[in-house]
Amino acid sequence: MTDLSTSETKPETIPMHMTSGSAIIESSELGKGKTVRTPDKENRPVRVKARDVSVFYGPKQALFDVSIDIPAKAVTAFIGPSGCGKSTFLRCLNRMNDTIEGCRVTGQIELDGSDIHDRDLDVVELRARVGMVFQKPNPFPKSIFENVAYGPKIHGLARSKSELEGIVESSLRRASLWEEVKDRLHEPGTGLSGGQQQRLCIARAIAVSPEVILMDEPCSALDPIATAKIEELIDELKQNFTIVIVTHSMQQAARVSQRTAFFHLGNLVEEGPTDTIFTSPKEKRTQDYITGRFG
Ligand SMILES: Nc1ncnc2c1ncn2[C@@H]1O[C@H](COP(=O)(O)OP(=O)(O)O)[C@@H](O)[C@H]1O
Ligand SMILES: [Mg+2]
Repeated sequence: MTDLSTSETKPETIPMHMTSGSAIIESSELGKGKTVRTPDKENRPVRVKARDVSVFYGPKQALFDVSIDIPAKAVTAFIGPSGCGKSTFLRCLNRMNDTIEGCRVTGQIELDGSDIHDRDLDVVELRARVGMVFQKPNPFPKSIFENVAYGPKIHGLARSKSELEGIVESSLRRASLWEEVKDRLHEPGTGLSGGQQQRLCIARAIAVSPEVILMDEPCSALDPIATAKIEELIDELKQNFTIVIVTHSMQQAARVSQRTAFFHLGNLVEEGPTDTIFTSPKEKRTQDYITGRFG
């Protein structure tokens, strides 16, 4: 089996088992609750199609002609050493780079066959369809309820108070947070633990029924138990959403994703089924990275 060790010092709570030769990745028992990763089903429709995407920060080019198809209802992981352009590319997918002064994006990106750079496209609506969860949990300084209700309110998704309450409850349930917060919905979201705050941010993203959820190192500020919970949640969410996760942990990529894309120095070096990338990559650079030769 390929050596997946990295220079990471963070303890890993879930030993990883990968069955090479098939696309089944399992994580072992997590306390009492057992998580079995579902097999990778190929031939899923493409949800996001990127072609020759380049990104410049002022005169400096940070991303070079990235082309990738991101399948629906699966988890795609972006891995690669720090500064290789993972976050930059992730931000292209909901046009968050538009908000960065001096940042310029070229190339084509389609969401369900429609150009996301189309002049008629409403960027606010795009960001509801392609939600984002950040490295540091960033709940609004509002109640737990309001954090989740905010998006549905501004997008007019609820016609009544009870409908809004229904959306809040179901979003919190889908984010595996309802049981922990149902008696304190009107307390501040910032009063929750880090892991709970991150699940609240996931509930907030889910509340507007996105098609795609982008996650940029969503566990890097969390302890191993909170990390394991988020990973279990990601595994469940992929039944309904297309998920793209940036992670600096190769173990995490192997545990949660069906497809992995390896970036290096602004290039997408290689992309494919996660077990192929980790057991028989085509490119030497990928091999060197996953075996810990650099990173
Ligand atoms: N807002 C920015 N302004 C200027 N350069 C940036 C900005 N964000 C990222 N970069 C540069 O772009 C490159 C890719 O960064 P990033 O996408 O953050 O990498 P990663 O997420 O893989 O660590 C790096 O060289 C970084 O310094
Ligand atoms: Mg980053």
